[in-house]
Parts: sequence; C-alpha cells; structure tokens
Amino acid sequence: MLPAIVADELSKCFFLRHNRAGELKVRFLGLFHKHKREQIEEFWALRGVSTAIGHGEAVGVVGRNGSGKSTFLKLIAGLHRPTSGRLLVSRGARIGTMIELGVGFHGELTGRENVFLNASIQGLSNADTEALYPHIVAYSGLEHFMDVPLKNYSSGMHMRLGFAIAANLDPDMLLLDEIFAVGDAEFQQQCMRTMTECRQRGKTILFVSHSAEAVRKICSRVLVLEHGQLLFDGGVTEGLDFYASLLAGSDHALEAAGLRC
Ligand SMILES: Nc1ncnc2c1ncn2[C@@H]1O[C@H](COP(=O)(O)OP(=O)(O)OP(=O)(O)O)[C@@H](O)[C@H]1O
Ligand SMILES: [Mg+2]
Repeated sequence: MLPAIVADELSKCFFLRHNRAGELKVRFLGLFHKHKREQIEEFWALRGVSTAIGHGEAVGVVGRNGSGKSTFLKLIAGLHRPTSGRLLVSRGARIGTMIELGVGFHGELTGRENVFLNASIQGLSNADTEALYPHIVAYSGLEHFMDVPLKNYSSGMHMRLGFAIAANLDPDMLLLDEIFAVGDAEFQQQCMRTMTECRQRGKTILFVSHSAEAVRKICSRVLVLEHGQLLFDGGVTEGLDFYASLLAGSDHALEAAGLRC
C-alpha cells in the first residue's frame, strides 16, 4: 500500500512564556526578582514521531488531554510547521479537516461565506463551490442559518457546518478531531455513516477521539500518543487495551513501550 502520510522523527516545539513582560509592573519587579522575570520555556508537544499511513487506512489517534493529538493533525493539515523531522503528505491530496472549532473559519463571516472561504482554500473554483453548496447546506441541516454570522452559531452548529464542508468537498483524506464532542446523536450517526462510506471509497482517515467505541467502529489501526511520543502503533484492540492500561497507570504498558524497566 502506498503511503499517504510519512512522519519521520516528527517533532513540534512550542514556546511557553511565563511572567509575560508586557506589564510595566512585571518588568519592574523583574529588575529585582529573578523569578519574576519573563521566562520562555520550550515545550515539545510532539517528540520524534515516526509512522507511515497508507492510502485508504482509517487510523484512530488516542491519548490523554495534551498528549499531542491535535498538534499531529495540525502538522498534517499544514496549520503548523514541524520544528524538526520530516513529514510527507501525498502531493496534491485534497484534505478535509475538522480539527478544532474555529480553525479555518471566520466568526464575522456568514455560514455561506465560510463555505466559500473554506472551498477556495481547498482550491475549488466559485462555480464548483456553487454546485456543491446545496449539498453542503442540506448535509449540515442549517438551511435557516446560512446567512447568520458564524459567531452566532452554537458549538454544535459550528461542528455541523465544518464537518459538512469537510465531507462534501470530496477529500482524499479526512482529518477529524473530536467531532463527536458537541454534536447531537443524530449528527453523530450521520458522521458515522459518512466515515464508513469514506472508508469504503478508499479515503484515508485520521480520527482523533476519546471514544473507544467510535474508534473501534471506524478504524483499522490505532496510534497512542503520550507526552508527545508515539507509544503504540498497531491493531485497534491491542491499541485500545494498551491505552486503557496506560490510563490505569499500569507499569506494564510503559514497560512494553520501553519507558520503564
Ligand atoms: N499554539 C500552541 N502554543 C503553545 N502550546 C501549545 C500550542 N498548541 C498546543 N500546545 C500544547 O501542546 C500540547 C499538546 O496539545 P494538543 O492540542 O496537541 O493536545 P491533544 O492531545 O489534542 O489534547 P486534547 O485531548 O485535550 O484535545 C498541550 O500541552 C498544549 O498546551
Ligand atoms: Mg485536541
């Protein structure tokens, strides 16, 4: 199977600023107290992640809060640049993303304008978007809200519009992050059907979720991230078991990953 995504020692470092020196008071205190001075800390959200994901694979990405899942997806989507390592994504692949509420959207623009904005970012012409527009609106179920600014949407409505765009732009790859977090049951079932269809049509899916049940239904492989490191890459049942034992604080899981002896 040809790889759609190859990560080679992929790492991402953010800089965390403590005691931001913007305020005059903080700057003044910093003159006398070292611990009050602005400090910039390196924070490695992803560290040395190496994996290859084949075309048509559906891969679940699981891990605790802050383990680097969204950062991984954002790197693949091109929203962040790697600090080190290499990341190769199929040339010309159309990527449908629903990573975080707000990413790729503009609150002051209406639902309709956001559809056109997203489609143009994906390289679609206005004519192509006009043709797809009724499908996107029908899929989202937001017919009466397309002329409302996005800032007035609820989180669930926002998610519906984002997923409707991602799913209907005929992507080669879907990057989905916690899409069930705010959607109602009906929307969740609709997403599930779409993802199953995408799998059958050979699309590549990366699916971040805290729901083991959803990962089991959609994915054929699981990646487990912990503190930005890839601790497990393999079958769904083994991966979810590994993650469950990690959450339970099992030394066995860490030993298996070579982190404890
Ligand atoms: N732009 C940023 N600047 C600084 N730190 C960041 C930035 N983005 C992410 N981080 C940090 O990187 C770490 C990983 O974040 P990430 O969003 O990838 O976690 P996650 O696994 O998606 O967590 P969750 O399950 O809560 O969504 C977190 O500690 C986060 O605070
Ligand atoms: Mg996240």
